[in-house]
Amino acid sequence: MRLVAAVMVLAGLVASPPLLAGTRLEPVTDPLTQKVCGECHLAFPPGLLPARSWAALVDGAADHFGEDLALPPGEAAQIRAWLTGHAGDAPVGSASGGRGLRDYMRWVAPAGTPRRITENPAFLREHDFSPRTWQDPKVMTKSNCLACHPGAAQGWFDDD
Ligand code: HEC
Ligand code: HEC
Repeated sequence: MRLVAAVMVLAGLVASPPLLAGTRLEPVTDPLTQKVCGECHLAFPPGLLPARSWAALVDGAADHFGEDLALPPGEAAQIRAWLTGHAGDAPVGSASGGRGLRDYMRWVAPAGTPRRITENPAFLREHDFSPRTWQDPKVMTKSNCLACHPGAAQGWFDDD
């Protein structure tokens, strides 16, 4: 699994320039969350999931998509507080919302606790690419945002 993670990071480095214009999402700015949640993949923008999803992800860190994150309780509490406080359904002003963000929250608002951003219909609509694109060795998985959005760690999902 660490190998897959390394490949995901590498894919980000060799990516071609981003293709789109538009959205800036609040990036992860908390150093601990950035360090722990940015180790294997982009530390995903907190505004793309509701608070209950971030809580479930942190509480379920011992079985994180097949990985045991081995989070010490103190760190888990700090990360949980930061992510839920900046979640897509957090009070206005705490997360920088754009069109995409509102679309994403429309799906998750009524019920359910999604653990993936990449299963959100708003995400799938915006990323309606051919299987060939997803299988490209530079991409490999939908969660590899950095392969196509090199500025994603700063919250940029556009081209400047
Ligand atoms: C294979 C390349 C690829 C991957 C991987 C990818 N994206 Fe995208 N993304 C795009 C492209 C291209 C667009 C523009 C689509 C359009 O304009 O119709 C886009 C659009 C977006 C938008 C909307 C931006 C806007 O201004 O409307 C957001 C938000 C976004 N992506 C977030 C993500 C996140 C988060 C991830 C990882 C979980 C991700 N993307 C993974 C290629 C990708
Ligand atoms: C040891 C590596 C590792 C660490 C550390 C890690 N993750 Fe993950 N994460 C994964 C793997 C593997 C996946 C599944 C990737 C895939 O299916 O493409 C994943 C997927 C995710 C997804 C779903 C992505 C999607 O498809 O929408 C979210 C959200 C997520 N992680 C959040 C976190 C958070 C929050 C933290 C910090 C508490 C964290 N991750 C730390 C390995 C890790």
